[in-house]
Parts: sequence; C-alpha cells; structure tokens
Amino acid sequence: MTQAADLLDPAERLDLDGLRALQLERLRNSLRHAYENVPFYRESFDQAGVHPDDCRSLSDLSRFPFTTKADLRAHYPYGMFAVPRERIRRLHASSGTTGRPTVVGYTENDLSMWADMVARSLRAAGARPGDIAHIAYGYGLFTGGLGAHCGAERLGCTVIPASGGMTSRQVTLIQDLKPSVIMVTPSYMLTLLDEFERQGVDPRSTSLRVGVFGAEPWTQDMRREIEERFAIDAVDIYGLSEVIGPGVAQECVETKDGLHVWEDHFFPEVVDPITGEVLPEGEQGELVFTSLTKEAMPIVRYRTRDLTRLLPGTARVFRRMEKVTGRSDDMVILRGVNLFPTQIEEIVLRTPGVAPHFQLRLTTSGRMDALTVRAEARADADAATREAAARSIVQAVKDGIGVSVEAEIVDPESLERSVGKIRRIVDLRERRG
Ligand code: DLL
Repeated sequence: MTQAADLLDPAERLDLDGLRALQLERLRNSLRHAYENVPFYRESFDQAGVHPDDCRSLSDLSRFPFTTKADLRAHYPYGMFAVPRERIRRLHASSGTTGRPTVVGYTENDLSMWADMVARSLRAAGARPGDIAHIAYGYGLFTGGLGAHCGAERLGCTVIPASGGMTSRQVTLIQDLKPSVIMVTPSYMLTLLDEFERQGVDPRSTSLRVGVFGAEPWTQDMRREIEERFAIDAVDIYGLSEVIGPGVAQECVETKDGLHVWEDHFFPEVVDPITGEVLPEGEQGELVFTSLTKEAMPIVRYRTRDLTRLLPGTARVFRRMEKVTGRSDDMVILRGVNLFPTQIEEIVLRTPGVAPHFQLRLTTSGRMDALTVRAEARADADAATREAAARSIVQAVKDGIGVSVEAEIVDPESLERSVGKIRRIVDLRERRG
C-alpha cells in the first residue's frame, strides 16, 4: 500500500532542512520553558554551566545535562511540572516495578498534540478515517489505552474501548463488531490467538486488517507469526509515559523497516550508555528524548534505557529507530554473556514443535547463575518432537549467544498468559549476602 501524499500532516511533508529549522526553533523554546518554569532544570543547567541561549544548533543539545527516572522520582508527584497545576487536564503514571511510580501530566494542548501523534501513527499503520479500531491496551493510569483511544478518535475511527482482560469477551467483540484495526501488546495478541482457537474460530477469518503492537519488545519472528496466524499486517508503535505515551514513533505499513520518530515533537539522540557520549547515526546505544512542544512536563535529554539505533528516514522524512531489542534493565548477564529476552524469542519462534509462549527462569546452581528457557509445546507435538525442540533451543542459544542454558518444553497452556505487558524473566536466584 502506498501512502497518499494528501493524507500527510504538513510536518510530514517538510524537507530535511525545513524539519531541522523547525526543530531548532522548538528546541530553543522548550529549553527556555523548562529552565524558566521547572526549578529542577534551572539547577541542573546552572550546575552544568549551560543556558538555553547556548543552544544555537541542534548539536548544542549535547551540552545539556541528562534527565533520568531517578530525577523524576525525586520530584514526585508534581515537581517536574512547568505550568500551574490548574492547567493540567490529565495525569497518568508509569507502573514502576520498584519504588514510587512516575506521575506525568498533560495540558489541553499536550493532549491534543498526543492525539495528533497517535492519529498520525495509525495513518502510517494503514488505518483510515471510518475504520473500526479495537483497543485492548489497558485503560487507566497506563498511557496505552487512553492514548490509543484519543488518537483513534482523532483520526476519525469508530473506537471500541475494550481495554485488557476478559479475553473470551474480546473474541466475541471482534466477531460481532468487526473491527479492522486492533491495538494491543503483542503478547496479549497471542493470548487472543489461543482464545480464538479455543472457541473454534479461525483467527484468519476475522475482519482485522492491521494490528498496531507495542509497549514491549517483539521480534521480526513474532511479526511473521502474528501476521500469518491472523492474516493481518503487524506494525510496531513505540512510546513511553515520560515522553507522552504511545505515538512517539511508528512503523509505516508500506515499508515495515523500523519506526519513524515523530521528531517534529520528540528529538531523539542515541548515546553510549556508559559514557553518555552522543553516538553517530547507525550506532547502537541508549535512546534519549527531548520534548520540543510539551507544555505541562517538558523533558530534556531523558534517558529511556531502551537500546536501539537511529537510521535515516525512508517512507517519511523523519529518522527511524530500529525495533527496540530490549532495555538495559532487561538484560541478563549470564556468566559474563549479555542476553536479552528478544534473542530467546527469535530462537523459540524458529523451533519446530513449540508455541510462541516462553519464560526465562533464572536460578542459582552452586555459585553460578543458571537460566532455563521454558517453552510451551504445540498441541500436536509428541514426546520425540518435544525432546528434539529442547535440544535445538539449547544448541541455538549456545551457537547464537554463546552461553549454555537449559531448556524445558512444558505442556500446552501451562505458562502464564499476558493481559498487557508480559513478564519474561522469573528470577529465582538466591540473594548472596
Ligand atoms: O508502554 C507506552 C505505550 C503504550 C507504547 C502502548 C506503545 C503502545 P510505559 O508504560 O511508560 O509506556 O513504558 C515505556 O515500554 O521505555 C520501552 O521499554 C517499552 N516499549 C514501549 N513501546 C515499545 C515497543 C508505554 N514498540 C517502555 N518496542 C519503553 C519495545 C517498547 N519496547
């Protein structure tokens, strides 16, 4: 499918020079807004010896200090806001696995810009006004549900606010209301797949045409699995609460070659996670974002901990980010070898006889950490197939990642299913004192 030019936003039609000029103007305003209205930024800029007026080109941004999750936590709940609380129209919060959650706020204009970015993302995904969009991201403090919802409405879709959970009802809704677009985490899409099969409904027979999947890492192999099993196009949407929520970057359905960052609003950098040095385009590192237009909570050089690289634009003028392979916090270091759950996902999805459901169990064996890949057998896999699958996973991890693990092929439907973001790692290691 090609994207008709008249469907694009004005900013999507800029040339590179026009885009860079717009970014610089917005960046200077945004730095000034942060400095003048958020004591945290004033202190951190002063400490680093930089002033918003020092930003004369986009590359000057690298002179400004980073912002981290710990900074946001330290100013919980409202300390990062740059406008009076009365101007905040909505709050969201990120789950935060440890300690305090992070509260984020939006003015009326921020909510409108967010809806525009999700609408733009949906258009890039192949959705059009008049489509019926089924939203199975969780509604609530999580940005997924409401973020997707407002964007789909903005595009002109008929929205089904299903939220997550009540899986059998999701299947009924899809059967009866006939959505063409679904927005959900990829792991919950697999839970839906099981439910379709349990109800004896062919998942390829639904009205769905495109799935917009994000909120967690997923691989090209997972894309193939979902596309084939549902007969849909599966595209990636990325975002994080601290920047806005879903709709920071989106993969275009016509190219499926990484996610275009909507960099007229969110300026990306990739830095060396250890030294913090800005890396050239094409090099892998930690993604960092600076908001260019946000009012309630401007964010300057926010360290996402997501690992990716930036690439030149293709279907759009905006740079692309490669599919996120993982977060620095999800990395398992096993006997000195770095391993990400997505690497195991690729292997599991290529192994005959196993379903796309797996879990990584970390245990202590003597003085060493041990990892067991637990993958589910497909319903038709006999004992010999299961044994061969376990051997093949162990071998593929050894050959591809360079570390020894164990593999256990468990019975169909025995692993915990996702209703939102999936938890891949179960850490049962003994704490050493
Ligand atoms: O997950 C926002 C979102 C909702 C994005 C729905 C896409 C769809 P948080 O809960 O703040 O916000 O979590 C943000 O999730 O830093 C990544 O580690 C991860 N993440 C989000 N999208 C993707 C993706 C939402 N497409 C964190 N691929 C981010 C890989 C993703 N990881």
